[in-house]
Amino acid sequence: MKHEPTPLEIFLTKLAFLLYGKSVYKAFSDRLPLNGDEQVLDFGCGMGTVAFYVAKKIPRGHLTCLDISRRWLKTCRKTLRGYKNISFLSGESQPPTKDSFDVAYCHFVLHDIPERELEKVIPALAGALKSGGALVFREPFKETKKIALIKSLAEQNRLIPKDSRITDVPLMGNSLECIYIKQ
Ligand SMILES: C[S@@+](CC[C@H](N)C(=O)[O-])C[C@H]1O[C@@H](n2cnc3c(N)ncnc32)[C@H](O)[C@@H]1O
Repeated sequence: MKHEPTPLEIFLTKLAFLLYGKSVYKAFSDRLPLNGDEQVLDFGCGMGTVAFYVAKKIPRGHLTCLDISRRWLKTCRKTLRGYKNISFLSGESQPPTKDSFDVAYCHFVLHDIPERELEKVIPALAGALKSGGALVFREPFKETKKIALIKSLAEQNRLIPKDSRITDVPLMGNSLECIYIKQ
């Protein structure tokens, strides 16, 4: 279901970005498998908290920021003004093209998506990756049912688990981070 943020939600997210930019969002971006020339998809980019750090890491690559919410995308454009290697997509869950990304990441996005929609989103994300590409997600650890579904859908769609870790994220608590590689 489409949800547009209130001005208060946007304000609080900006505050979290100011307070925890390096410890939460940069730390996540530092663990993405990037060399500098990748095609990257930020699925559910929000205000661009992670994208702000990822864009700097791929000077010879390109970052596509996709969000279902026009208001978040507008805020994201402001966060990322000045960068040349970014495009923005307003999406109803479907990444745009097949076999085109080296890395696709979802940062606190998938647990919010209803199960029936996840059954379309995960295959679409898997399809959008090149062979050998990586899907990375970070979700609240307590969302055990959603996480089990996400993992099962990933494995049904040619994605092989490579690595996972639990991190303690301020305001969100323990969170699970997983990397899957497309066969
Ligand atoms: C909790 S926010 C996280 C934003 C950002 N990734 C971060 O960590 O700051 C979830 C974001 O996912 C977006 N979103 C939710 N469902 C979506 C869908 N089906 N397709 C694309 N974006 C979606 C929301 O609009 C929102 O911007």
